[in-house]
Amino acid sequence: MPTSLTRNFSIIAHIDHGKTTLSDRLMEFTQTITERESSAQLLDAMDLEREKGITIKSHPVAMTYKAKDGQTYKLNLLDTPGHVDFSYEVARSLAACEGAILMVDAAQGVEAQTVANLHLAHAQNLVILPVLNKIDLPAADVEKCRRQLEDILAIPAEDAIPASAKQGIGIEEILEAVVQRVPAPVENPDKLLRASVFDSIYDTYRGVVSYVRVFSGSVKKGQRVKLFATNKTYEVKEVGVFTPKMTAREKLVAGDVGYVIANMKSADEAKIGDTLTDSTHPCPEPLPGYKEIQPMVFSGIYPVESSDYEALKTAMGKLQINDAAFTFMSESSTALGFGFRCGFLGLLHMEIIQERLRREFNMDVISTYPSVIYQVTLTDGSELIVDNPTFFPEAQTIQEIREPIVNVYIMVPGEYIGDMMQLVLEKRGEVTNTETIDDMRVMLSCVLPLSEILVDFNDKLKSMTRGYGSMDYEHAGYRAAKMVKMDMLIAGDPVEAFSTIVHRDKAESYGRMLAGKLKDVIPQHLFVVAIQAAVGGKIVARESISAMRKNVTAKCYGGDITRKRKLLEKQKEGKKKMKMFGKVNIPQDAFIKVLKSG
Ligand code: GTP
Repeated sequence: MPTSLTRNFSIIAHIDHGKTTLSDRLMEFTQTITERESSAQLLDAMDLEREKGITIKSHPVAMTYKAKDGQTYKLNLLDTPGHVDFSYEVARSLAACEGAILMVDAAQGVEAQTVANLHLAHAQNLVILPVLNKIDLPAADVEKCRRQLEDILAIPAEDAIPASAKQGIGIEEILEAVVQRVPAPVENPDKLLRASVFDSIYDTYRGVVSYVRVFSGSVKKGQRVKLFATNKTYEVKEVGVFTPKMTAREKLVAGDVGYVIANMKSADEAKIGDTLTDSTHPCPEPLPGYKEIQPMVFSGIYPVESSDYEALKTAMGKLQINDAAFTFMSESSTALGFGFRCGFLGLLHMEIIQERLRREFNMDVISTYPSVIYQVTLTDGSELIVDNPTFFPEAQTIQEIREPIVNVYIMVPGEYIGDMMQLVLEKRGEVTNTETIDDMRVMLSCVLPLSEILVDFNDKLKSMTRGYGSMDYEHAGYRAAKMVKMDMLIAGDPVEAFSTIVHRDKAESYGRMLAGKLKDVIPQHLFVVAIQAAVGGKIVARESISAMRKNVTAKCYGGDITRKRKLLEKQKEGKKKMKMFGKVNIPQDAFIKVLKSG
C-alpha cells in the first residue's frame, strides 16, 4: 500500500470524555475487532489502569478502512497516556502522528486537560480534528461547545464533528475526516532508515518490544540496526504491527507504525524518543525531539521489615526492566534502616510504583515525603542538583537555589474563583490569566512551584469546589526560590528522616505542623522531650512532651500476676519496634504515621 494511503493519528481528551469508547468503535467499524472483544476494552490492558480509569501505556492499533472515495487506507491509531506525569511519552506519541482527534464531552465542555493536551499537539504541528462526544446525553450542548472551541482553543467551530461513541453516532464521519483532513506521511527522499521509538514494553519471553514509527526507509527481520542515544547495534529478530494483537510482518516501511524486537534486555536500552537506523547505512542525524527522561519527584522507599531489603531490591529491579523512567539507588537512614532513594516522573507514577510493589511483589514498604529536584549554584560558582535534604549544602555556601515550576490550568465554577485565587497564593503561586469559559465556569492560568502541588493541591481543589474543579499542569522550567533545610530536633538531636527542604516563609508553619504531629506519636519518657524545628540553627517551632509519671506496671502491684506479665510482654514487644535517638525511643510506626500524611 503506498504511503499516500497511510494516516497516523491519535486521540487526545480529558479523562472520561470517551477516548477508550471511541477507539473501540473505530476498531469495530473497521472490523479490526468484534463487538464482543471491544467490551473487554482492549486498549486499557493493565489492571491498575482500569482501576484508576486512566491510560498509562500507549497501545497503537493498525486498522484498514475502505473510504467513500473507494480507496482502502491504512489507519494507525496511537493511544496516548492521559496524565501529565507521562507528558513526554504523550509528546513522543504525538510526534509519531500527523493528526489528532481532540475529543470533548459535549455535556461537560472544554476542560483544563483539553487545553494542556492541545498545547502538546500544537507543538508537534498536528492537524486537529475536534469531536464533540456524548451528544446522546440530554445535557449535551453542542452549540455551546462549538463556541468554547473557538473562544478558548481558537479552533474553527464548523470543523467539529458531533458524535456519540457509546451509540455509534458520527463514527464514519470521524473516519472520513481522518482520511481527508490528516495529511499522509512524507518520506525523506534519501530513504535511509529513520524510525522513532515512542514507547516500549518488556515481555518476559521476548525481551524489549520497541514501538516505532518509521519516518523513512524500511526495517525487517535480520537487519542490523543502531540506536542513536546508546550507539548500540542489534540484529532485528521480528517486526510487526498491532491488529491490535502483535502480528509479525515481513517489514515496516515509511509511514508505518509497529514494533521491533531486537534482543534488548531492559527497557532503558530502547529510550523513548530515540531514533533507530540501519547500522551499515545510517541516517546522518537522529530525528528531532529526543530527551533523556528525568525523574521529577524523589522519595525514599524502605521495607517495613528490614529483612525484606534484598527482596525489595529484586522487586525494584524487575519493575525497572519494564519502566525505564523509574530509578532507584540504595540509601540508608538511621530511622528507617536500609532502603532506596527512588525517582519518579510525578506523583501518579510514584503511586503506581508503590502500588505495584505491594500488589505484584507483596512488599510492605514505607515511603518518605516526596521531594522535587533543586538546582543549586554555590558561592564558588559550581552547580549542584539536590533531591534529598540530607545532601542540602550549608546555607553560607549557597549563592542561589532554583526550584521547578509548572504552568497550571484550573477550571472552576465561577463562584469559587476567590477561594481558588487564595489557594494559589497560599501555595506561592500567581494567577497569570483568568478567562470565562461559559456562564458557569472560569479558567485560571497560574504559575506555581511544583513542590507546592505535589501533595494535596488537587485534593484541596476538589474539596473546595465540591468536585467540580479540574486541573492540569505542564512543566515550565526552574525559578530562583528561597529554599532552606529544616531539621527536626528531638531532645536536641536532629532526626534526619524528618528533615525537609521548605521555602523560608513556610518553615515556621510547616515546622509547627510537623512538631505537633510528632508530639502525638512519640510516647512519654521519664523526662520532658523537646521537639524543635530548626533552620540553620535557629528554632522556628517547638513542642514538648511532658514527663511520664508512673511505671506502667505500678497499678498492678498486688494485683493479678498474669495481667502484669502480659503488660511487660507488651512493653517488650513495643521496645523491639522502637529506635533510640539520643535518649529518646521513637516507635517505628511514628515514622510511618508522620511521613505518610506528609
Ligand atoms: P480515560 O481512559 O480515563 O481517559 O477515559 P476515556 O476518555 O477513555 O473514557 P471512556 O471511553 O472510558 O468513557 C468514560 C465514560 O463515558 C464511560 O462510562 C463511557 O461509557 C461513557 N461514554 C463514552 N462515550 C459516551 C457517549 O457517547 N455517550 C455517553 N452517554 N456516554 C459515553
